[in-house]
Amino acid sequence: MFLHIVFLLFLLSSTSHATVQDFCVADLKGADTPAGYPCKPPANVTSDDFVYTGLAEAANVTNIINAAVTPAFVAQFPGLNGLELSAARLDLGPSGVIPLHTHPGANELLIVLQGHILAGFISSGNIVYQKVLKKGELMVFPQGLLHFQIAVGKRKALAFPVFSSANPGLQILDFALFASNFSTPLVTQTTFLDPDLVKKLKGVLGGSG
Ligand SMILES: *[C@@H]1O[C@H](CO)[C@@H](O)[C@H](O)[C@H]1NC(C)=O
Ligand SMILES: *[C@@H]1O[C@H](CO)[C@@H](O)[C@H](O)[C@H]1NC(C)=O
Ligand SMILES: *[C@@H]1O[C@H](CO)[C@@H](O)[C@H](O)[C@H]1NC(C)=O
Repeated sequence: MFLHIVFLLFLLSSTSHATVQDFCVADLKGADTPAGYPCKPPANVTSDDFVYTGLAEAANVTNIINAAVTPAFVAQFPGLNGLELSAARLDLGPSGVIPLHTHPGANELLIVLQGHILAGFISSGNIVYQKVLKKGELMVFPQGLLHFQIAVGKRKALAFPVFSSANPGLQILDFALFASNFSTPLVTQTTFLDPDLVKKLKGVLGGSG
């Protein structure tokens, strides 16, 4: 009993002296590191640092994929720094496609707000898990796996993905292959695709080499 009380007093005194850092709003002028950005001085932090309004408006989907991804990662929303959390907005025109991509640094939870979205991912064991999602439905995409979203039918769709990192990263497979300077001979050799197809896709997506 005595030991118990001593322990409790010790615990109380140690926690009351602990300085708790509630947040570390990013100072975006500092360097981004694996541990995040340096903190803005607390005296400079305002309510606006914890609010992001950049996902309120629909994005322009007049482009090759008839869709747009608008990120609210730490670089756009400094209040997320160190919180292992971020979000984005997916606008899909009719039949719009978010091509196969991965987020190397985060799990994703997709929340559908409008339309019907065919979403899926491919596991490391090359098994495809896919589903048509309706308004109010959610799907999870485990970290690092290739996944996609497609608006089904003639309706546009809207969804908000939430990520388990302030900086999830985004790598789009087609852009990595056909919008980069990965040379056509090497793309052909490493993917087994026809060279004419590789050149055609590079022409469309702007790749070189
Ligand atoms: C903090 O605010 C002071 C005074 O407005 C300013 O001089 C300083 O550059 C600010 N620091 C950062 C990191 O924003
Ligand atoms: C959307 O983007 C396209 C292509 O860049 C442009 O022609 C069009 O004016 C834009 N629409 C709006 C409403 O900004
Ligand atoms: C691709 O381009 C980057 C910068 O533009 C350059 O540093 C890199 O060496 C290039 N890679 C190849 C394989 O040409």
